[in-house]
Amino acid sequence: MRRPGLTSAEASRGAADETCADRPAAMGSDSILLSRTPPAWVDTAVERWRELLLDHANCEKKAASTALALMFAYPEERALGTALSRLAREELRHFEQVQRMMAALEVPVTRQRPGRYAAALRAHFRTSDPGRKLDLLLAGALIEARSCERFRLLAPRLPAPLASFYQQLEQSEARHFQLYVDFACADAPHEWRRRLRELSEHEAQLATAPDPEFRFHSGPPPAPRAL
Ligand SMILES: [Fe+2]
Ligand SMILES: [Fe+2]
Repeated sequence: MRRPGLTSAEASRGAADETCADRPAAMGSDSILLSRTPPAWVDTAVERWRELLLDHANCEKKAASTALALMFAYPEERALGTALSRLAREELRHFEQVQRMMAALEVPVTRQRPGRYAAALRAHFRTSDPGRKLDLLLAGALIEARSCERFRLLAPRLPAPLASFYQQLEQSEARHFQLYVDFACADAPHEWRRRLRELSEHEAQLATAPDPEFRFHSGPPPAPRAL
């Protein structure tokens, strides 16, 4: 029940403060991932880092466009709009950095089919509010958390220029994860954990089940068939 004298926005902020106190800030982005990335994916990425870089450039563009889409969908949310505008600019800077890295390492720009990850995750989102906004925010948190985990796993195993670049990106993605979690928590203080659990199960399945397309957020390649 709303406390007397409080607007509904203030009341929901108060509720968010109470139930968001235990959000996974101190636990780090890994805390929301239900499964770790399989070693087979990491081994493949180390071997096929050129392909990985190409998809990575696409992921940065997509991260910016996802943030812009949220800004268009919820124009009345000023704080969200400001935060996402900054995030979109940062993702586009990452895209430019990946492009420079590709040029320096002589990785050609070619077209790639999109992997299954984003579309399959999106298939579980609610398509109208209430619910759609929370799902979009939680998916943002999950994707940033998975990126963060994979940058951390890859950094020590990649050639020098990529290693330090991926270390920096791990820190950026951890901040982005936090931003999405904070807004999700404020948006639905009593629902976000339960819904996060549901979406995390789908995300974990997509990131760990054998995947015919190797991508930044894919599962590991299928095991070779015995002759
Ligand atoms: Fe990024
Ligand atoms: Fe990001």
